[in-house]
Amino acid sequence: HNKRPIIMANWKLNGGVDLICSSVASLINQPFAAEIVICPPYLYLRDMLNFLQHSQINVGSQNVSKFKSGAYTGETSAQMLKEAGCQYCLVGHSERRETFGENNASCQLKIERALQSGLTPVLCIGESQKEYECDLTEQVLTRQLTESLENIDLSQQSICIAYEPVWAIGTGKSANAQVAQKVHYFIRQQLKAMYSEQTAQNTRIMYGGSVNKNNAETMLEQPDIDGLLVGGASLDPAHFSEICNYA
Ligand code: G3H
Repeated sequence: HNKRPIIMANWKLNGGVDLICSSVASLINQPFAAEIVICPPYLYLRDMLNFLQHSQINVGSQNVSKFKSGAYTGETSAQMLKEAGCQYCLVGHSERRETFGENNASCQLKIERALQSGLTPVLCIGESQKEYECDLTEQVLTRQLTESLENIDLSQQSICIAYEPVWAIGTGKSANAQVAQKVHYFIRQQLKAMYSEQTAQNTRIMYGGSVNKNNAETMLEQPDIDGLLVGGASLDPAHFSEICNYA
């Protein structure tokens, strides 16, 4: 690996002040080789940022508005997140796509907003169970990448990608590490074709989907797996810090 690995926690709609305190306590004084990022629900971003201000740990949001400002009730803008101190935002998580009607076009707008505000977007892509069974993984990923990144210039700015096969999210059925590696390699080749060898090499591609302390190390050993996006296992601070230590 030529880049620093990144381990991100996505708490989804879970956690509260207690989890913030216990997570911070278990992570704050550890010298991790990887970059660690925690994405709590919006309401707790400030608390998280306050607790972590003198640490090396970064904070990200789970979503971002595709709008800059205005009459958009319930939205949070990239500018607001940046001003609060966030460094990352997830874009197009499969749960957002499935339950909240997000698609590649909204991802494209969100990525634009994030980059304009100086946030690093983490574009989440991945095939469904049905697409996987029909051997459509590469086709789905190509479409997600080309449509979500249309007109996005990555020569001066960077994004991260999270490959999350939907069938592996929250199911306990993580992808096999060799299979995940093949898909990550494919994603990198796509980035090379769309941008350049340099952009492809510099983009960190994380794996997500039932990551835990038993499979994290093998995942991170794969040459094209640059990090992990951890859901369920990140809600247990001791478990999450164990995962962080594998990178
Ligand atoms: O963003 C995280 C992923 O959706 C993975 O969730 O680790 O609970 O399977 P999980």
